[in-house]
Amino acid sequence: MSDTMTFTKIFGALCGSLLVFLLIDWAAGAIYLEEGQGGDDGESHQAYVIDTGETQTASKAAGPTFEELFAKADVAKGEKIFGKCKACHKVDGNNAVGPHLDGVVGRPVASVAGYSYDAALKGLGGDWTPDRLQQFLHSPKKFAPGTKMGFAGLPKAQDRADVIAYLASLKQ
Ligand code: HEC
Repeated sequence: MSDTMTFTKIFGALCGSLLVFLLIDWAAGAIYLEEGQGGDDGESHQAYVIDTGETQTASKAAGPTFEELFAKADVAKGEKIFGKCKACHKVDGNNAVGPHLDGVVGRPVASVAGYSYDAALKGLGGDWTPDRLQQFLHSPKKFAPGTKMGFAGLPKAQDRADVIAYLASLKQ
């Protein structure tokens, strides 16, 4: 008789703990799901991330540097890309909506006489090196916040390299 009692007690205890585990598991699942569904992107999130060093490899494989692209830049392609700039820039020494761009590579920033630059460009200082030009052309508004150059930018590094090579090829 007492054996049956002991068995019942042990069995009861086991069932009790099992129930607690199930409850914890359910609660954890509910919290996890809420977080996953509440995300802005609507995708489920990874619970944890294993660092495999992938990011380093990825950044190395991100492609050639601007210097490498510029060294192999295509002047003829750059001239075509300059078509996007022509609405505002001339390369014959005359200013238009924007300052003339012949000789701009290596020229001090905001230095064309008779052109009225705004404070954003005047405040930059220094010279237009190919690298600074490509940063400016990537996103004029980020490189020179407040600039009146109404151009979104050239997202492709190769396009920037080509157009700068074209500008560098013009008579100073
Ligand atoms: C919608 C007109 C517009 C377009 C398109 C445009 N620009 Fe400009 N750009 C300007 C204006 C205006 C300025 C003067 C900005 C200032 O004073 O802040 C300027 C300034 C510049 C400067 C600085 C020159 C200096 O003397 O310091 C460079 C370089 C330049 N633009 C290159 C380009 C290139 C290259 C393109 C084409 C990929 C282009 N821009 C497209 C209007 C434009």
